[in-house]
Amino acid sequence: RRPAGAPDQQLARPVTKVGVVGAGLMAAQLAVLFLRRLRVPVVISDLDHARVDRAVAGIHGEIDTLLAKRRIGPDEANRLHGLISGSTDLAAYADCAVVIEAVFEELEVKRQVFAELERHVGPETVLATNTSSLSVAAMAAGLEHPERVVGFHFFNPVAVLPLVEVVRAPTTDDATVATALGLAKALKKNAVLVADAPGFVVNRVLLRLMGEVMGAVDEGTPVEVADLALQPLGLPMSTFTLLQLVGPGVALHVAETLHADLGERFVVSPNLQALVAARRPGLYDWDADGSPYVSAETTAL
Ligand code: 3HC
Repeated sequence: RRPAGAPDQQLARPVTKVGVVGAGLMAAQLAVLFLRRLRVPVVISDLDHARVDRAVAGIHGEIDTLLAKRRIGPDEANRLHGLISGSTDLAAYADCAVVIEAVFEELEVKRQVFAELERHVGPETVLATNTSSLSVAAMAAGLEHPERVVGFHFFNPVAVLPLVEVVRAPTTDDATVATALGLAKALKKNAVLVADAPGFVVNRVLLRLMGEVMGAVDEGTPVEVADLALQPLGLPMSTFTLLQLVGPGVALHVAETLHADLGERFVVSPNLQALVAARRPGLYDWDADGSPYVSAETTAL
């Protein structure tokens, strides 16, 4: 079913090659999904060679896991191995139809990435952001072609959760939205077309919940007790497990953005701030077993 307000899907452009900017956990998950569902070349980049190499190695590992689980056959696995490449140079995105950024959740960083990308890609390349809560319009402002910027917000774990929020800024044109919706369909995700409002829809609700639980912890309730107390709500996973899954740094950034944009009802928890301040480098890397690396401080919170 087409999301309400969707433009004519005939405007969608074909997606023949995809770029992913950033080599963190989310970026690698996106790359695997694009490879698997689109079977087109995917380039992943970061400023740091070692991070790119590690992300590409992780993606090859994920393809092998899909093979081991018989989700794909050996021919398909070989093909996917051949479609992924890494780079530290945004020029590698020159012929991409879509480039999605999943870099640090900081407006200025994302703006710089898009400004730099414009120097390398054609005017019709869609520039998508996986931002959790930042303004898509603010990211597009000042670009030569702001009409090709769109939000494309996935949920953790990317391979499993079926939703994508497609975020239309006032500047986003119909062809860009149609391309994003077509892409979501090809990825076998359910797209919802949402407004460029703080936290979009999901994080606006999720961060209220997380903020209230963190508030109870800040006021003295132990983490385990807070988690246990929420069990009757029947959430698919405990709030603190979810916090580990999305990453405390991401959760803090979203809480801060929502607090700044929507006010006091969004709590910026001192415990969460302390946890993020104490983080070790590599907090968002993959562990040997493929799960997101979470420092001891998280469980000790
Ligand atoms: N990473 C990757 N894959 C995972 C995973 C993880 N952390 N956890 C589970 N999976 C996979 C499993 O490998 C399994 O895949 P398989 O069928 O190929 O083996 C599949 O998910 C199902 O796993 P389980 O049988 O263990 O299923 P569960 O019933 O325990 O469900 C869950 C796991 C889907 C993660 C479920 O607990 C859930 O939905 N949790 C809530 C997650 C959520 O709310 N995410 C949104 C976070 S907000 C966000 O990301 C936005 C950002 O901007 C902050």
